[in-house]
Amino acid sequence: MHVTHLSLADFRSYTRAEVPLGPGVTAFVGPNGQGKTNLVEAIGYLATLGSHRVATDAPLIRMGAERAVIRAQVRQGERQQLVELELNPGRANRARINRSPQGRSRDVLGIVRTVLFAPEDLALVKGDPGERRRFLDELITARSPRMAGVRSDYERVLKQRNTLLKSAALARRHGGRSMDLSTLDVWDQHLAHAGAELLAQRLDLIAALRPLADKAYEQLAPGGGPVALEYKPSAPGEAHTREDLFAQLTAALADARKQEIERGVTLVGPHRDDLLLKLGQLPAKGYASHGESWSFALALRLASYDLLRAEGNEPVLILDDVFAELDARRRERLAELVAPGEQVLVTAAVDDDVPHVLTGTRFTVSDGTVERV
Ligand SMILES: Nc1ncnc2c1ncn2[C@@H]1O[C@H](COP(=O)(O)OP(=O)(O)OP(=O)(O)O)[C@@H](O)[C@H]1O
Ligand SMILES: [Mg+2]
Repeated sequence: MHVTHLSLADFRSYTRAEVPLGPGVTAFVGPNGQGKTNLVEAIGYLATLGSHRVATDAPLIRMGAERAVIRAQVRQGERQQLVELELNPGRANRARINRSPQGRSRDVLGIVRTVLFAPEDLALVKGDPGERRRFLDELITARSPRMAGVRSDYERVLKQRNTLLKSAALARRHGGRSMDLSTLDVWDQHLAHAGAELLAQRLDLIAALRPLADKAYEQLAPGGGPVALEYKPSAPGEAHTREDLFAQLTAALADARKQEIERGVTLVGPHRDDLLLKLGQLPAKGYASHGESWSFALALRLASYDLLRAEGNEPVLILDDVFAELDARRRERLAELVAPGEQVLVTAAVDDDVPHVLTGTRFTVSDGTVERV
């Protein structure tokens, strides 16, 4: 798929922006702080309902405005769709498809699909487990938009279960009446149910991603691999099917219960898991060099792109400021790998940072205006 038009209202630095887009490569070039990333961040938001830069929506609303609107005209084969999100911080966001209001914002997921490369990706390798969980879960949702519902069910159950555990922990500390544990049993079932579905999808994703990531790393840094991806569950076991994962989680919750009541928080489940990234025999985190970590992060994004493409609907490739971070050789390799994409959006502060194979449409972004060169 590709985006044929992007409209913004009160998004980030833009009061208004109208940007016509086409298939092939489009580069946004301009000095620092002029609004290049803001444009691609908006497209990424339509695909993930989140920003790759911030955890909350508030910074996305133009300072002084009450709400922001992101609208994109999307083409997939012969099909055209207009997708629109209104961001209302503190309240529910509103979504429309072809101008008709949708029940929930997650109803728009699946229309715009993106794979976004950004300097922030280094955190995939060097950062906390939460970064890697988000990577997995966003990709799961891109493969199967209904997983957004499962993820939000899981989050909701987790929150309620934690509230219950916290009050149990407090009651225990203050020598109060001990809690009726049958309530907790019910929440365990809910947690294990949504958790098993999420886990099954993560394991399936990692199995599909593994060979693609290894191939991508070899293309970016020949002879530097192999790379390995290993799932590190908080609930120990070898289960793979949803039923077995449910049993595994239920057993782990039972084992952890005493400790959970002491600590007042849920200690097992997908929200405590990690994805171990290995380069050769060593974990990448803590061992890999800066350049190796970068190549690993890029390889994970390239693998995501290959996977989504192989599964049918080609995503928009977004390369936000990545070329400036790479040496000449990796720059050329990455450019060659992405150049044939259906739609490739590149941002760069300097024209020379955009590799020659990525010739295409150029826009200059300066002082809030986006102009075709
Ligand atoms: N909510 C907001 N309201 C108003 N302005 C904002 C808001 N959020 C960000 N900005 C402004 O947008 C600008 C940053 O835009 P952006 O990140 O797109 O820059 P860029 O062109 O990608 O720069 P660089 O080359 O440094 O990456 C900053 O000047 C910032 O002050
Ligand atoms: Mg930028």
